[in-house]
Amino acid sequence: MDLHVIGPLASPAERAAVDEVLGPPDSGWRGGGRSPTEGHVAQGGHAARGRRDMLLPALHALQDRVGQITQPGLNYVCRRLSVPPAEAYGVATFYALFATRSRPPAVAHICDDIACRLAGAEETCADLERTLGPAGTAARDGTIGWLRSPCLGLCERAPAAMFTIAGDRPLRSTAAPIDAAGVVARLAEPVRAAESAGGSIAAIRTSAQASVPQMGEPQLQLLRRVGMVDPTSLDDYVAHRGFLALREALAMGPDAVIGEVTEARLVGRGGAAFPTGRKWSAVATQPAQPHYVVCNADESEPGTFKDRVLMELDPFAVVESITIEGFATAATKGYLYIRGEYPLAESRIRGAVDAARAAGYLGPSVAGSDFAFDIEVRRGAGAYICGEETALFESIEGKRGEPRNKPPFPVEVGLFGKPTAVNNVETLVNVLAILEEGPGGGARFAAVGTEGSTGPKLFCLSGNVGRPGLYEVPFGTTLGELLELGGGVPERRPIRAILLGGAAGVFVGPEALDTPLTFEGTRAIGATLGSGVVMVFDETADLVGTLRRIAAFFRDESCGQCVPCRVGTVRQEELLARLADGVAVRPRHDELRLLADIGQAMRDASICGLGQTASSAIESALRRPELVAL
Ligand SMILES: Cc1cc2nc3c(=O)[nH]c(=O)nc-3n(C[C@H](O)[C@H](O)[C@H](O)COP(=O)(O)O)c2cc1C
Ligand code: SF4
Ligand code: FES
Repeated sequence: MDLHVIGPLASPAERAAVDEVLGPPDSGWRGGGRSPTEGHVAQGGHAARGRRDMLLPALHALQDRVGQITQPGLNYVCRRLSVPPAEAYGVATFYALFATRSRPPAVAHICDDIACRLAGAEETCADLERTLGPAGTAARDGTIGWLRSPCLGLCERAPAAMFTIAGDRPLRSTAAPIDAAGVVARLAEPVRAAESAGGSIAAIRTSAQASVPQMGEPQLQLLRRVGMVDPTSLDDYVAHRGFLALREALAMGPDAVIGEVTEARLVGRGGAAFPTGRKWSAVATQPAQPHYVVCNADESEPGTFKDRVLMELDPFAVVESITIEGFATAATKGYLYIRGEYPLAESRIRGAVDAARAAGYLGPSVAGSDFAFDIEVRRGAGAYICGEETALFESIEGKRGEPRNKPPFPVEVGLFGKPTAVNNVETLVNVLAILEEGPGGGARFAAVGTEGSTGPKLFCLSGNVGRPGLYEVPFGTTLGELLELGGGVPERRPIRAILLGGAAGVFVGPEALDTPLTFEGTRAIGATLGSGVVMVFDETADLVGTLRRIAAFFRDESCGQCVPCRVGTVRQEELLARLADGVAVRPRHDELRLLADIGQAMRDASICGLGQTASSAIESALRRPELVAL
């Protein structure tokens, strides 16, 4: 098939950006790595065709170089990849970080999500509106602008901002805490993300301490290397017990690895709490080939930042654990899908993958064994739904991030239609603790925590607490104990509410402080651990505004594929606005009943977890008149 695309030609800069990713047009595929779909599709005129999965990387290249995806630029990508323009346009418009309309080259993305609201984000936005004009407009001769953003995963240092600067040497960086003056200064004088990826170990330690108040404490397992190891040095990683677990895994064999992980009773930390050993075993035994592993580093649940900290400060641990997962499940290739808002984590992970490959820990003979495995890093483009595992596959495959119907489950039909084990970053890092002491590690791991929730757990503590940050505690620690670790509420102000599990979670009151933080403990009080968010709201917090922000988040992030979620999230937001603004169109009691009906319909009839949980935090708050009186 050839595509005859008419219209203006892409600029030399656009063509160069795309060619850098896809290889020169006439000389076949040079974009790195063998195409997973090679041999399954017609190759057409040159080898880049049939690489539909390169659509997002090519769109990123355009966005990074010229600050937007122009029609000629998109047409050029379509010709290179044999993708119909209408389809590519549908993909480009799906992702918030891609601009299909004119956008200034330098943009500040200001987080106005729940933790940042508590830390003054609305004031920052109001200041920026006065200085630069409304969000979404261009200022200073069209060179700079600002946009509102959902959670940037920097909640422990709120308020946060991300900067994207397009050009020949595109820049992406983040800053937190930051105010409007800081934002304008950073737009005028950008800071290179790549530069900040290195830095002295002293600087790394200072930054680590700001995110991990427990840094250096001897009991830590998952966070033990954070701030202690140079995240850019493979040698330093090896000196800190790096690759021990991989060596143990290679020595014991795939079945024994799965046996230890099963014995550990490790369950997923990405929200669904599925047993990891069972997932790995199901993939390992699938006859279809090849098998893939996917590390889910999309981490977009508001209030969640644990995976970012692991990737920024201990990236080799993530690379090592993905490799072990690949070995256990007989996979030949791993993908790490990282959200587009994590430039530092992405550059550290890419650095770790390259260094591991150069040292023989990835490639045709992993650590000198006969196991061949490699990892490819893919960048998301601003879509919360792409954290849902099947939406993530669609995104890697170069499509809109729309979840698939299940069954079939990913263990049978996953990425590129092949058996796939997908796991969260934190889940995988647990595997190192299980394996590195050799046989029996599963039982030792299971001895930590409780019967139903084994091992250590990371909690993302934010909001009105003295020392917000990432905390590692054994499962079973109570909510009150965690808050004490985090310094409690400033000035000992009374707690009004605590959000457990993020925007898809549940609000609880101060009476829940004795609840053990376990899957079973939170379930018993009708709450959830979700991705480990614990966000504290004291009596000064604006909870009505918070609920409206949560409703807006789900309305924005619904992929729109199924009616209950697409319409329900809009109606939910409208109804909440009516109640908050005192302009209800029916008696308040009936409005509340309608809100509950909408929630029920989304729970019962949505395809995926987004729609099924879009009303849970809001309903949990409205059930308690002492929290929000609407
Ligand atoms: C809307 C939605 C968003 C999700 N986002 C993430 C995410 O950012 N990271 C993640 O690991 N899992 C996320 N999940 C859960 C994944 O679908 C999947 O269960 C998980 O990656 C499996 O890994 P685990 O077993 O290690 O937890 C999300 C699920 C839904 C429904
Ligand atoms: S529930 Fe929402 S996010 Fe999930 S598939 Fe349906 S429309 Fe998309
Ligand atoms: S970074 Fe702003 S709410 Fe998370």
